[in-house]
Amino acid sequence: MPDTLTILGIESSCDDTAAAVVRGPRVGEGGGTILSNVVAAQTDLHAAFGGIVPEIAARAHAEKLDLCVEAALAQAGLGLQEIDAVAVTAGPGLIGGVLAGVMCAKGIAAGAGLPLVGVNHLAGHALTPRLTDGLGFPYLMLLVSGGHCQFLLVQGAEDFRRLGGTIDDAPGEAFDKTAKLLGLPQPGGPSVEAEARAGDAGRFAFPRPLLDRPGCDMSFSGLKTALLRARDELVEVQGGLRRQDRADLCAGFQAAVAAVLAEKTRRALRAGAEALAAPVPALAVGGGVAANRQLRAALEHVAHEAGTRFLAPPLALCTDNAAMIAWAGLERFRAGGRDDMRLSARPRWPLDRQSPALLGSGRRGAKA
Ligand code: KG4
Ligand code: ZN
Repeated sequence: MPDTLTILGIESSCDDTAAAVVRGPRVGEGGGTILSNVVAAQTDLHAAFGGIVPEIAARAHAEKLDLCVEAALAQAGLGLQEIDAVAVTAGPGLIGGVLAGVMCAKGIAAGAGLPLVGVNHLAGHALTPRLTDGLGFPYLMLLVSGGHCQFLLVQGAEDFRRLGGTIDDAPGEAFDKTAKLLGLPQPGGPSVEAEARAGDAGRFAFPRPLLDRPGCDMSFSGLKTALLRARDELVEVQGGLRRQDRADLCAGFQAAVAAVLAEKTRRALRAGAEALAAPVPALAVGGGVAANRQLRAALEHVAHEAGTRFLAPPLALCTDNAAMIAWAGLERFRAGGRDDMRLSARPRWPLDRQSPALLGSGRRGAKA
């Protein structure tokens, strides 16, 4: 028996149809090798609607899934007979898309006689630093994207403790709404970051939501309201926005998001150390917002202060992809995890079953 496992991963919980093949050790720790990583984005299909339309997403997934799987196998240079198991995102996410992925995976598993492994999408994000860097347990993961925002203390491949999360919008959602309010292109994160470069972060006093309260929970919807108010005041006084106003608003907003995430990370590292009764050895970040340079620098600084290692996986593996699903599937599979044809798609699926559900539900699916 070879000492490696080769897993086909499938992801379709949001607006990216993805398939990948990943190889990793059959026993023990150590990182993985990505043999292929195919992503078909749906950005164009949803552009006219100003957000993701679940029905359009589901239909596009159903059309593209088998093509992505074929491409992933071809790029890896492998046939299904060389695959050990099929891993698929079974939730949380937009139910039509998750269902399309689960049905596709069941078909392949049944047809090829392969084991089926259902994977939690958030576990995929949270275990990515193990795929890329062979990071050992435990570590603190900050997941920040358009649909997710939470601190997870990761102590095992299926052992996640949520130390805090957003009670309303995810940061990426706030970046996207900010861009919309200022007439900047979507996705909002990169456009707001680019504008902010020429801006003065001190001109507008944006709030730092929930910093006055203990704990690691966060809130980002008030920031967007503050930005809207500042914009409207400028429009009323000047009759419109100048280029510099836009840059200053973006810089102020971005600085507020980075400051809140940095301070909450400080607290999460302390809470994690308390839970472990030892310092948290590593801080990792994932999700699309992890691309933000000011945020990365702020988190790196926090980690440095705390004497903790800092890891940020390459951007293509921070955003939604199937390599992370294949890897999380590999970790479950080698620990004995298996599913059968009764595997169901779950719109909500908290990683940490002990923590109470968070309030926000977000446009891109569950955050809990
Ligand atoms: O992880 P992702 O690709 O998809 C999910 O939301 O699951 O993250 C996309 C989000 C978008 O909201 C986008 O505006 C944000 O990540 N984003 C950024 C940056 N690049 C992408 N936010 C801030 N700064 C960036 N450079
Ligand atoms: Zn995601």
